Amino acid sequence: MGLWLAAPAVLGGRGALERDMIAEDNFVDFTCPYCGDPVSFPRESAGFVQACPNCTESFIVPDDGGAVGRAIPLPITTARLVIRRLAAQDWQDLLELMADEEFFRYTDGVPLDEDGILRWLASDAHVKLTTPDQPFFLGLELQDGGKLIGYATLNFTDPQWRQVNFSLGLNRKFQRQGYARETVAALLDFCFRGLKLHRVASWCDHRNAAGLRLWEKAGLRREGEFVKNRWVHGEWATSVWFAALAEDYFPSQGQALPAGGIEPG
Ligand SMILES: CC(C)(COP(=O)(O)OP(=O)(O)OC[C@H]1O[C@@H](n2cnc3c(N)ncnc32)[C@H](O)[C@@H]1OP(=O)(O)O)[C@@H](O)C(=O)NCCC(=O)NCCS
Repeated sequence: MGLWLAAPAVLGGRGALERDMIAEDNFVDFTCPYCGDPVSFPRESAGFVQACPNCTESFIVPDDGGAVGRAIPLPITTARLVIRRLAAQDWQDLLELMADEEFFRYTDGVPLDEDGILRWLASDAHVKLTTPDQPFFLGLELQDGGKLIGYATLNFTDPQWRQVNFSLGLNRKFQRQGYARETVAALLDFCFRGLKLHRVASWCDHRNAAGLRLWEKAGLRREGEFVKNRWVHGEWATSVWFAALAEDYFPSQGQALPAGGIEPG
């Protein structure tokens, strides 16, 4: 399999038998849960997110060879929401959210019309969790009635797929009812427990009281500001960055919780 090709160069002058034994020990062979093809990854990636070299779907590398890779643990069910991939039938609920000019007050985004939403949904259908430079969108669906009331995005920021930036947006009619807080708690659990990530981060505009409160209340550490680094609706805006590490989420594995603490979901 593809990754074996790298082994002889790494192992230098070792004999063929010894080299093969070491390579076999250092790799885990399993089946992609999506395309069913056999794949092989370095043992150190067991438990972490990787992309299938054949079908490009994202999966979690299993601990044992011969097994099937673990699918990404979606959808996520919270007390009131189902957090899931967007689907073509979401266009009307997304239009209600994305046509609202007030929603974009603190971002350089602009409202979308029906055509824009349909094009977005068509291209989003091809995005995987590990697709480079593409936000991975998750819809926030009310369990009661099935309405899509918002979205979250995850973006990997490192080649090892251990760090993400995330963002959140709620339909104005459903704000200030605790849905964002509920979503963030579930996403922190998804990231740190489900995907074994090292770090999650997010940012918001310094004037965005709701965004600042959300990340502080969720227990993320306020790490710094980029002063006037974005041109937003005719003026320079400052971005405030927040983050949490796995050791903040699982304090027994490392250091103490940040001020406010993260409550595992
Ligand atoms: C930021 C946003 C996601 C918050 O969603 P929400 O569902 O209203 O948030 P919640 O109801 O879970 O509230 C979270 C905290 O923020 C506070 N909050 C919410 N809206 C607020 C506002 N307009 N002003 C001040 N505080 C606010 C809540 O009181 C709560 O704090 P508390 O627990 O101490 O009371 C929502 O306002 C939004 O979608 N804004 C537009 C997009 C955006 O700015 N995203 C943030 C950047 S990623």
